[in-house]
Amino acid sequence: MASTKNSSKDEELQETNGGVEVIEAETTKTIVISGVSKGLGRALALELAKRGHTIIGCGRDKINLDSLQLQLSNSSPRNHLLFNLDVKSNESVREMAHTVRKKFGSIDIIVNNAALVNASLKLWEIPSEMFDNVIDINIKGTANMLRHFIPLMLPKNEGIIVNMSSLFGRIGAPHASPYCSSKWAIEGLSKSVAKEVPNGITIVTLDPGVINTDMCVSFLGHHLASQYQSPQEWVVKAAPMILNLTTADNGATLIVPDPGVLPDL
Ligand SMILES: NC(=O)c1ccc[n+]([C@@H]2O[C@H](COP(=O)([O-])OP(=O)(O)OC[C@H]3O[C@@H](n4cnc5c(N)ncnc54)[C@H](OP(=O)(O)O)[C@@H]3O)[C@@H](O)[C@H]2O)c1
Repeated sequence: MASTKNSSKDEELQETNGGVEVIEAETTKTIVISGVSKGLGRALALELAKRGHTIIGCGRDKINLDSLQLQLSNSSPRNHLLFNLDVKSNESVREMAHTVRKKFGSIDIIVNNAALVNASLKLWEIPSEMFDNVIDINIKGTANMLRHFIPLMLPKNEGIIVNMSSLFGRIGAPHASPYCSSKWAIEGLSKSVAKEVPNGITIVTLDPGVINTDMCVSFLGHHLASQYQSPQEWVVKAAPMILNLTTADNGATLIVPDPGVLPDL
């Protein structure tokens, strides 16, 4: 990664807030993350809030969002904002961005993390509705986020965008053709938008590696998935990596260190 203009953990100073350790970032970033109700998105939201940043998140599961909101307010003094919505809906994402613009004016980082994996089946066994849903959430949902949130970065000509990809956005895999197609599309979408954004804005794809989340369980099963790193182990590598991205990374295809190795599929 190129040297950073963002604050790194080393530059941050620690405070305590009612017994809970809070790391106050030198520069507080306003960070939008899609899909924060569980898995990697939730772990990122908690870690970045702990590092002193403000989180704006979304997801479909209201109960999980409510518990995250509580956890965020207990662990950090910032005004974090969570939206109960489906990224498939262009209108819902538009309204979310409108509210964020009114409250915050601009944003510093977008992490397009929300995604779905198809049931583990061969292409000709996958119902068309399931294929469509993966495409609608993973590709069109990401495009909706970019469409409505990039304009919040344009006035300052500053911002980092991380589109969560996968090893499956870089190779083919059996029983995952809709998901693979969607992640290859994320790579193409990101490389194209990288050529459209002004020079102060950076967009990358990030393969997070293999992490034991619900998505991993649904693809590999409980037994295999449990042999991989937890979201909490993952996030201490991923959060600084995201915070340290700079304009020199625009268009890059990145991977979080120690990704783990998938079994032969
Ligand atoms: N875990 C891995 O090993 C792995 C490997 C490679 C890539 N990835 C990528 O990493 C990202 C996170 O994956 P994960 O493992 O954390 O998956 P996960 O545990 O299934 O979590 C997915 C998150 O996305 C949200 N989401 C799904 N559909 C949504 C929609 N239509 N609108 C809004 N939010 C939605 C989910 O919340 P709701 O259900 O509440 O909406 C949840 O918070 C994904 O982009 C995935 O493709 C993961």
